[in-house]
Amino acid sequence: MTALTLTNVCKSFGAVEVLKDINLTVEDGEFVVFVGPSGCGKSTLLRVIAGLEDATSGTVEIGGDVVNTIPPAKRGIAMVFQSYALYPHLTVRDNMALGLKQEKQPRSVIDERVNKAVSMLDLGAYVDRRPSDLSGGQRQRVAIGRAIVREPKLFLFDEPLSNLDAALRMNTRIEIAELHRTLSASMIYVTHDQTEAMTLADKIVVLRDGRVEQVGSPMELYNNPANQFVAGFLGSPAMNFLKKAPLTIPKGGALGIRPEHLRPAKGGRIKGTVTHVERLGGDTNLLVSTAEQEPLTVRIFGQDDTQVGAAIELDFNDTQSFAFDKSLQRVAI
Ligand SMILES: Nc1ncnc2c1ncn2[C@@H]1O[C@H](COP(=O)(O)OP(=O)(O)O)[C@@H](O)[C@H]1O
Ligand SMILES: [Mg+2]
Repeated sequence: MTALTLTNVCKSFGAVEVLKDINLTVEDGEFVVFVGPSGCGKSTLLRVIAGLEDATSGTVEIGGDVVNTIPPAKRGIAMVFQSYALYPHLTVRDNMALGLKQEKQPRSVIDERVNKAVSMLDLGAYVDRRPSDLSGGQRQRVAIGRAIVREPKLFLFDEPLSNLDAALRMNTRIEIAELHRTLSASMIYVTHDQTEAMTLADKIVVLRDGRVEQVGSPMELYNNPANQFVAGFLGSPAMNFLKKAPLTIPKGGALGIRPEHLRPAKGGRIKGTVTHVERLGGDTNLLVSTAEQEPLTVRIFGQDDTQVGAAIELDFNDTQSFAFDKSLQRVAI
């Protein structure tokens, strides 16, 4: 079964069109990530799915039913926000139980579901605390627990890790992936962070300026981007784009080469000077200015003793490069 189908969904705030003809499906059990720069419409799209905003036109189907006129509480969804949105005066247990109480579930069902979520999220030691006595990571786990106990048809996450520090972000990311495996639930996860998209998604939806740019698995999008925006958005360090390229490219277009596909090579087709070196320990990034004064990043696996100011010659496999025309569309090399 299909968990979610969006057909020709548009959303305007007054004269401002924020979502433009969105069509997509989420299959049962699929983990779908909406990724795109800040302001591209990710939260608005999630809120339209949740029923917190009405679509201006188009249909939203959840589990086969059109839900455009169904209120959020009756859509079978549960949402987790960046801000946690916990009740400060309620304990962890009561925060997690509140939605079920409002649904008038029997006490035994509430206790069973809350206990299960508490153990799944390792919150046993904190059930009687209030949110103010928890760390950011623990608060977010409570918010996730509150979603789990509802047993929704569809989980919606809006940038749930953005308020956490880098180490905690990675741990919580892994926990969310494990949770998805355990629950086999359908999930939509919104982020501006390409690493989260690449590491969590079965399917990535790249959004830009209210439109879907490309949909596919992380590796499909990485290896076969439809356009220069997707090519440049996924991958860190980002893909290099040369306007003065050693291959034939469309006039006004660019040649795209990922940093890991450039290698120092005597007599290589790209000549330049090293302007900066980032030694990450495991890898080394060389920042290079080409003879045509275009910036490039070269990713060297392992440690490397190249010094700033050194002359460098670089090459690449043509089959690992991408050509884009001046309207940013991908064209054959
Ligand atoms: N209630 C609103 N009224 C007017 N404009 C809004 C409203 N909500 C969002 N927007 C605008 O819609 C665009 C997309 O916002 P949003 O969906 O929050 O983006 P994202 O989550 O991708 O950062 C932004 O330009 C934002 O200013
Ligand atoms: Mg947002």
